[in-house]
Amino acid sequence: MSDIRGFDKFFRLDGKVAIVTGGSRGLGLHAATAFLLAGAKTVIITARKAGGPQGIDQAVEKLNKLPGITGRAIGIPANVAEIEGIEKLVNETKRLEGKLDILVANAGATWGGPFEPTPDWSSQKVLDLNVRGVFNLVRLFTPMLDAAGTRQDPSRIIIVSSTAATNVPHVGEHGTIMYSASKAAAHHLTRNFAVELGPRNITTNTVAPGFFPSKLANGLIESLGGEKLLSEETPRKRLGEPEDIAGVMIYLCSPAGNYINGEDIAVDGGRRLGSGRLSRI
Ligand SMILES: NC(=O)c1ccc[n+]([C@@H]2O[C@H](COP(=O)([O-])OP(=O)(O)OC[C@H]3O[C@@H](n4cnc5c(N)ncnc54)[C@H](OP(=O)(O)O)[C@@H]3O)[C@@H](O)[C@H]2O)c1
Repeated sequence: MSDIRGFDKFFRLDGKVAIVTGGSRGLGLHAATAFLLAGAKTVIITARKAGGPQGIDQAVEKLNKLPGITGRAIGIPANVAEIEGIEKLVNETKRLEGKLDILVANAGATWGGPFEPTPDWSSQKVLDLNVRGVFNLVRLFTPMLDAAGTRQDPSRIIIVSSTAATNVPHVGEHGTIMYSASKAAAHHLTRNFAVELGPRNITTNTVAPGFFPSKLANGLIESLGGEKLLSEETPRKRLGEPEDIAGVMIYLCSPAGNYINGEDIAVDGGRRLGSGRLSRI
């Protein structure tokens, strides 16, 4: 028998304070939900819009009604593509909680269209949020993460990137070249942070989703042929579901993921490898 310590707490987040950017809907909301269900003390979600059917307020209300949770959700509106928005988020987090254990840089922007007419503002929008914003978010939250992490239980940074970082998913009429390049940069930010911040008891890893129905992805899913066709083309024969994000987030942020640093995990049912086929005979 080997001596595995704390096995009963392997996938728990009791007492942890987490921030999820872009937590008002989609993948960020799946992550925030999972954190509370795993016992987190506080989950702060941020997005630009506070009110309305897709704003932070309605998401916070739903999160706080999750059955059996002991922690709470808080919303802080902030634009994390801008340094002022990030500074506001850091100051509010310090004031409300005083510590931070988990930072999920999930908010992302995309733009799709034919290559040559690409308006320059679209590249700026994508790079400001997906690259510069993530860099600054991590940079400004590092002192808090540093203070919370220990050798036995490091603080965690998760960067939500995309499988589009490592393949060329589509070009032409709905091409997303700059999005794909921004996510390649996001993957590489993770590797750099892993080496820079590992010695300070902070781990950094990438979660790289394939297709999950969401406001960001639905237009593209439709223009590529719809959910049914994309499911058929995926080795697991379906698109991503909330539980798929919940599982990988809990693994990476809990004691089970303690020694994982600088890794990227694709959550795409194998789709990125999809040039292989099942042979019939
Ligand atoms: N869904 C997929 O199939 C898929 C696949 C690969 C990668 N991803 C990645 O997963 C992440 C989440 O995407 P999603 O599909 O869940 O998108 P989504 O449903 O459209 O949600 C995006 C979230 O980000 C927030 N947001 C957008 N811009 C922001 C800004 N400047 N500052 C703060 N918050 C901002 C949005 O709220 P506000 O609009 O109110 O700000 C919303 O909460 C992105 O990084 C995306 O690239 C998604």
